[in-house]
Amino acid sequence: MKYVDDITKLFTRFGTNAESYQEIQPNYKDFKDDPVPPSVPVTEPEQSVALSPPAPTPPVLLLNEPQPPLLIGAPVEPAKPVVFSLPSPKSLPLTEPSAGSATGDRQRLSDLLHELNQVRRDGLPETARKRTRAKVIAIVSANGGVGKSTVVAGLAKTLRRPGGRTIAIDLDPQNALSSHLGITQQVPGLIQLKQQDADWVAHCLPGYGDTECLPFGAGDVNARRSLKQLMLEDPDWLNKHLASMNLSENDTVILDTPSGATVYSHQALDAADLVLVMTVADAASYLALDTMTQWLETSRRSAQQHRYVLNQRDDSRSFSRDMGVLFQRRLGAGLIGTIRLDHQLNESLAYGRDPLQYSPDSIGCRDILSLSRAVHALLLPDACNQQVTP
Ligand SMILES: Nc1ncnc2c1ncn2[C@@H]1O[C@H](COP(=O)(O)OP(=O)(O)OP(=O)(O)O)[C@@H](O)[C@H]1O
Ligand SMILES: [Mg+2]
Repeated sequence: MKYVDDITKLFTRFGTNAESYQEIQPNYKDFKDDPVPPSVPVTEPEQSVALSPPAPTPPVLLLNEPQPPLLIGAPVEPAKPVVFSLPSPKSLPLTEPSAGSATGDRQRLSDLLHELNQVRRDGLPETARKRTRAKVIAIVSANGGVGKSTVVAGLAKTLRRPGGRTIAIDLDPQNALSSHLGITQQVPGLIQLKQQDADWVAHCLPGYGDTECLPFGAGDVNARRSLKQLMLEDPDWLNKHLASMNLSENDTVILDTPSGATVYSHQALDAADLVLVMTVADAASYLALDTMTQWLETSRRSAQQHRYVLNQRDDSRSFSRDMGVLFQRRLGAGLIGTIRLDHQLNESLAYGRDPLQYSPDSIGCRDILSLSRAVHALLLPDACNQQVTP
């Protein structure tokens, strides 16, 4: 009897036919057993924005196989990131089989395939994923040096809600966020606290203005690589850590990221209620807007909001003012704030002081405060009468 006879029977049992399937004779001659599962290749350097473009959606379900991150600056496939683990029966409520009949089997098979396809496309359903109760804001950008860490620190200092904590978390291997919050000592960070049983709350450090900061941490290339590996293997790595912090709904988490579509920024994107895209009033940032928008569309969270912040607008230069107008026209209400060029921000970082304490009336500080109010109103429209602390 040929294999195809068995296959035909099997297909008939499920109410379909095998005509469109080709029979392939197995050839085991060249097969070599490999007892060690191959590890996922991790590409250095850490900061790269030039990562491979996403592979087209694979024809079969590839479990636990990380896909390459997206490329900033190149066309972005509409497909969602397809890095996911096979959902356990507990986490994904699959349809119960009905009474073992052929119709029941067919229905069940079709439901299972449908649900697995949906998971591949959208990630795990929101209800099946661990989430923190805190509000989470991710700051991302296409280009480097546009003011992400400055704004993370500024928002951390100004967004605290009554009875709540504000925690800034550095997902950037540069490990620079803590300096923006006045923290100078070298302490354990994400690199050292990467395992799910690590206590992140115990390792948050106090920074300027009642903020708390969890740094990225210092480590060699192998330490960074193994952290990256964990993130590649588990797209919910950050979500699970945040959930384990047992934060309250009055707490706020602000995530700093490296520029570009890295594994770090993907983790941030998958955790955030609000994504703020930092951009500056120049041609490179303007040209990156399309790619940025496409990248944001790959976010797995349907309820997520995206807004843009224009930084370093220099009102003494007509070119910068003109660029500001173009960004405003292009982004409309998506542009939630503009921060003007203010050397106090730059110098404060260099001298190790908090600009909001040292020069609160400077234009940059005033703009950061306005941004903070706008973000507050967006995240908590019902509570926007609450005081935003300067
Ligand atoms: N509005 C501003 N006016 C003047 N200087 C600013 C302004 N915003 C940020 N800066 C300065 O620009 C420099 C880069 O800012 P920052 O480190 O926040 O950027 P970044 O996007 O986090 O950079 P990276 O991509 O390297 O992480 C810093 O020295 C900062 O003080
Ligand atoms: Mg930074």
